[in-house]
Amino acid sequence: MRRSSVIAGIGGYTPDQVITNADLCRRFDTTQEWIVSRTGISTRHRVAPGQSTSDLAVAAAQAALESAVDLGGPAVDLVILATTTPDRPCPATAPLVAARLGLDTIPAFDLSAVCSGFVYALSVADGMIAAGTARRVLVIGADAFTTILNPGDRATATVFGDGAGAMVLRAGEAGEPGALLGFDLGADGNQADLITVAAGGSARPDPREADEADRWFAMRGQAVYRHAVLRMTETARAAMAVAGWQPNEVDRLVAHQANARILTTVGAELEIPPDRVYSNITNVGNTVAASVPLALADAAAAGVLRRGDRVLVSAFGGGTTWGAAAFTWPELAVAARTKGDLP
Ligand code: UT7
Repeated sequence: MRRSSVIAGIGGYTPDQVITNADLCRRFDTTQEWIVSRTGISTRHRVAPGQSTSDLAVAAAQAALESAVDLGGPAVDLVILATTTPDRPCPATAPLVAARLGLDTIPAFDLSAVCSGFVYALSVADGMIAAGTARRVLVIGADAFTTILNPGDRATATVFGDGAGAMVLRAGEAGEPGALLGFDLGADGNQADLITVAAGGSARPDPREADEADRWFAMRGQAVYRHAVLRMTETARAAMAVAGWQPNEVDRLVAHQANARILTTVGAELEIPPDRVYSNITNVGNTVAASVPLALADAAAAGVLRRGDRVLVSAFGGGTTWGAAAFTWPELAVAARTKGDLP
């Protein structure tokens, strides 16, 4: 019988510094009314100078490992870090995170799928557990996305924030609460220009030869919005089909926190009642690869996710990429999102 993966821990972290809508109104030609009505976001977090993605990832991972108290034996034997903002272009950030967590010389690698990164990483971890390559996996989504935002772009400054979320998976049985039951993934590289940092990669290595705007993150907001609604809905339906669920059997939709209006529309398209659509976007904004695990951690800490709940997650991001996962929720004691001093 195929070995299943079971959720054994969850944790989230956001850095101390908060950017309010009033702060953005002082920096840009915008209004609090525009920001709230178009995005549903009131505050987002930002790393302090000197902090980076690995700091966020380590803090969230520690919270997830602390919630995974009943594991026994070695904590984890693999680390996968989904991120679009690695500490440096080379090498990957995951080995550094594993070393800082004291995880000895276990394998560790980064995965890049922008806002879909965590769902992709979860699927890879699930496959490695099924293959027997790993038994306990730490899957992290972390982004210090404010570090790549164009300082002159009011649209992206409004939407994005920094944070991290982490999940511990262990080998188990499909019938256990917390078992991962179905995935769907997809990508369309023909839409790569919708969400991009155009310069600084191997295609245009010298940012000094690029226009100022091409050195920073850029998003074609309206087009991304349309693709996000379509793909997040389709991929969620596909994952439900793999798990054998009907929409009315889903207890919680915990989707990528892209925009409050996107979440509402995707919930309605899927015919999942609004009170089952979880959102923490008003407090954290769009935290890219951290978005899904941070929302799961916040929902669990708030008691919104309970043992045995059928949970559907769905995400869309740059690439373009999308993905969804269906799982039940385990019995977990989850502390409120950690803030404050970084480890
Ligand atoms: O995480 C990956 C997936 N990401 C997403 O799903 C994000 C999807 N997109 C969005 O959430 C929205 O497109 C945004 C919130 C980014 C922008 O909202 P929008 O309603 O799509 O605005 P827009 O880009 O179409 O711009 C409409 C108008 C423009 O002015 P004009 O050209 O009509 O005069 C913008 O310049 O709104 C203007 N605008 C703003 N006005 C006030 C853009 N940003 C702002 C702002 N304050 N912060």
